[in-house]
Amino acid sequence: MSEIYKLLVNGVEHEVADAWLGESLLYVLRERLGLPGAKNACEQGECGSCTVYLDGTPVCACLVAAGQAEGGAVRTVEGLAGAGELHPIQQAFLTAGAVQCGFCTPGLVVAVHDLLERNPHPSDPDIREALAGNLCRCTGYEHIVAAVKLAAGR
Ligand code: FES
Ligand code: FES
Repeated sequence: MSEIYKLLVNGVEHEVADAWLGESLLYVLRERLGLPGAKNACEQGECGSCTVYLDGTPVCACLVAAGQAEGGAVRTVEGLAGAGELHPIQQAFLTAGAVQCGFCTPGLVVAVHDLLERNPHPSDPDIREALAGNLCRCTGYEHIVAAVKLAAGR
């Protein structure tokens, strides 16, 4: 059965029509609302590429039914930076060489944003623990840890 429901994403209320309440938040963000920042890599909650905030808590958007997000506030990687500029965390990833294919990067940026909100000066173990749910197949994580330290320093 299709439904019409409302989703608040990055401060903008969207009316989602002809949708099934059980489709994933990730699908709705990417395919219905044109927000491709959150990536679809595993669709099983294993990789963290689809990480977004739901009511201030990072979640795997592939595991959240869109209907569950109705009435809540979603914030995606597109909502972290101002229009036309990079967030300091994104800039730090570029500067530190922490982006190769980039598929994991949006989810990591959201996860790092959450980490630094909670812990502005994380240790290496803090960083590795906080990012344990975000898999990167390219960088070997050293550059990612360096990027987090760079962002924290700023
Ligand atoms: S696509 Fe959601 S955790 Fe991998
Ligand atoms: S940069 Fe390719 S998966 Fe992380």
